[in-house]
Amino acid sequence: MATILIKHIRTLVQASHTPVGVVAGARMGELPVIDDAFLLIENERIAGFGPMSEAPERADTQIDASGRMVFPCWCDSHTHLVFAGSRETEFVDRIRGLSYEEIARRGGGILNSARRLNDTPEEALLEQALARLQEVQRFGTGAIEIKSGYGLSVEGELKMLRVIRELKKHTKMAVKATFLGAHALPPAYRENREGYLRLIEEEMLPKIADEGLADYLDVFCEKNFFSPQETERLILAGQRFGLKAKIHTNQFNCLGGIETSVRHGAISVDHLEVLTDVEIECLLSGNTMPTLLPGAPFFLNDHYPPARRMIEAGLPVALATDYNPGSSPSGKMAFVLTLACVKMRMTPEEAINAATINGAAAMELQHTHGSIEVGKAANFFITKPIPSIAYLPYAFGSDLIEQVFVGGVKC
Ligand code: NIG
Ligand code: FE
Repeated sequence: MATILIKHIRTLVQASHTPVGVVAGARMGELPVIDDAFLLIENERIAGFGPMSEAPERADTQIDASGRMVFPCWCDSHTHLVFAGSRETEFVDRIRGLSYEEIARRGGGILNSARRLNDTPEEALLEQALARLQEVQRFGTGAIEIKSGYGLSVEGELKMLRVIRELKKHTKMAVKATFLGAHALPPAYRENREGYLRLIEEEMLPKIADEGLADYLDVFCEKNFFSPQETERLILAGQRFGLKAKIHTNQFNCLGGIETSVRHGAISVDHLEVLTDVEIECLLSGNTMPTLLPGAPFFLNDHYPPARRMIEAGLPVALATDYNPGSSPSGKMAFVLTLACVKMRMTPEEAINAATINGAAAMELQHTHGSIEVGKAANFFITKPIPSIAYLPYAFGSDLIEQVFVGGVKC
């Protein structure tokens, strides 16, 4: 049995001897910490922690973390990190005045990425995606959800999901796969929406289920993309194949995607840049995790989700990167925390809860990830010497993570 003892930790963050579980409302502002702490790892799991006065004397490896803090790894519950190439030309088009929606209407956006993806062999896609996965791991992410949605064809969607399956073999991170066939209507079906919905239901879903390629189903519920009625139909189709829902909704318009998703027990609803009070009430009535992706409104220069209103109403929120080539080309969770604090007025404690335990819950991983608890995966990072927890989102340009451990192994 290999043991690692981290000693003299200035502050051990999100560490609790009673299960943390999802945190909501005022509790989001509470973060359990232990000062002058130790953390003991046995193989892949957390075996113990507490004040230094109770630290064991022996371990195979000992690390002195004086002046440093230890956090559980980030749980990034919404990414599109399998994609081909990049879209900085659209970034420049937006600087010159075109909107994201206008670029999409002209065949750019998601359809641009879909063309590239379908032209890229599986091996090349895997190589690009693996480099991104290794990068986000260095940024402190230890559990991640990855979506398809740039295939928009049977072969393309399967290719993306197979790449995600391959990625799992190369990492100790927890990886969840989401099928997002309904990300945009492919051009070949422009006059035949019904045909594409049936392609998803009758060809994509059965093949995906057959190969066990996905955990969740996603739909981009938005004007010019998919309606709440179509979203409902696809949520139900996914359920027939054992896939629970995680839904893109309320990015630009309130169309009813929240109500539909909550009613059908979706695991999460993501984006929520626009959100009515009625929709907040609806979220309070269910167990769907509202997931905020401030990297997207930052990069699109749009407005941010009403996080304060949500937390003050008693809701939990999760934070994720939305790492994708169009609206959020970054997988850096620490920057997402800074955006949450600066642009949504979340406190550092709220942002950390949202990026750890609540992010884990948005992937149904809250019992194994997202906090320092005995028996949970040994996924944690050691910071450089920092004076306080708030310093992490505050010093937004600095790279403050010194060592990352995933599954008990240093990355
Ligand atoms: O979550 N909004 C839909 N999907 C992605 C962006 C996709 C893209 O622009 O490639 C998002 O922001
Ligand atoms: Fe997204």
